[in-house]
Amino acid sequence: MFNIILFGPPGSGKGTQAKKLAEAFELLHISTGDLLRSEIKNGTQLGLEAKRFIDAGELVPDQVVLGMLRSAVEKYPEAKGVIYDGFPRTIVQSEAIDAMLAEDQERINVLIALAVDEEEIVQRILERAKTSGRTDDADEDTVRARIQVYKEQTAPVFDYYDRADVAYELNGMGSIDEVYARLSKLVEQAQTA
Ligand code: AP5
Ligand code: MG
Repeated sequence: MFNIILFGPPGSGKGTQAKKLAEAFELLHISTGDLLRSEIKNGTQLGLEAKRFIDAGELVPDQVVLGMLRSAVEKYPEAKGVIYDGFPRTIVQSEAIDAMLAEDQERINVLIALAVDEEEIVQRILERAKTSGRTDDADEDTVRARIQVYKEQTAPVFDYYDRADVAYELNGMGSIDEVYARLSKLVEQAQTA
């Protein structure tokens, strides 16, 4: 299996790029944000619990996310690999996914962090807010709170995988196609490494 973590702050382009990569490299795309929004939409207990954290721009508790993630992965035992988008977001989640993969003698092969200027990501998210219907997009204070949570709780995940020598930072500025060209090149290199 080939397992990628697509990493980066809110609005850095993880979802946009993960979708393109998943098609081109025939990998399963798992976005914990999308899974949580679908739970909310379906009115499940998990969705109800998650909603107040998401609306405040905070992280949903690790155990909630981990249970949901495990069932999502188990639905596709035949997957050739997975692109994790928006996961792991804490050290606890990183250790949990590593342990889960190790059960099958697998591991995270590469983490790629999209680097985008803070003002650019705020603009991208506020632009998306016009059509996304995402409650956490609409208000600039919530968007900035999400960025702060990323810096404090999620950025350490990069260092965690850097210690395993699998973390890369990629310039996420420029057009979607420009970023994709850089990204797909790096993924190809990682696949043959
Ligand atoms: P999640 O859904 O993961 O949101 P996020 O990380 O805040 O990131 P976004 O989805 O907003 O941005 P993105 O990087 O995917 O960028 P996109 O491609 O959409 O999480 C939401 C919430 O759920 C969290 O705050 C948390 O509460 C909870 N949650 C989720 N996972 C969790 C976890 N593991 N643990 C705990 N809680 C969790 O692009 C953004 C916009 O920019 C789009 O409109 C796009 O069209 C545009 N765009 C993309 N690329 C470019 C470009 N190159 N140039 C111009 N525009 C671009
Ligand atoms: Mg996303």
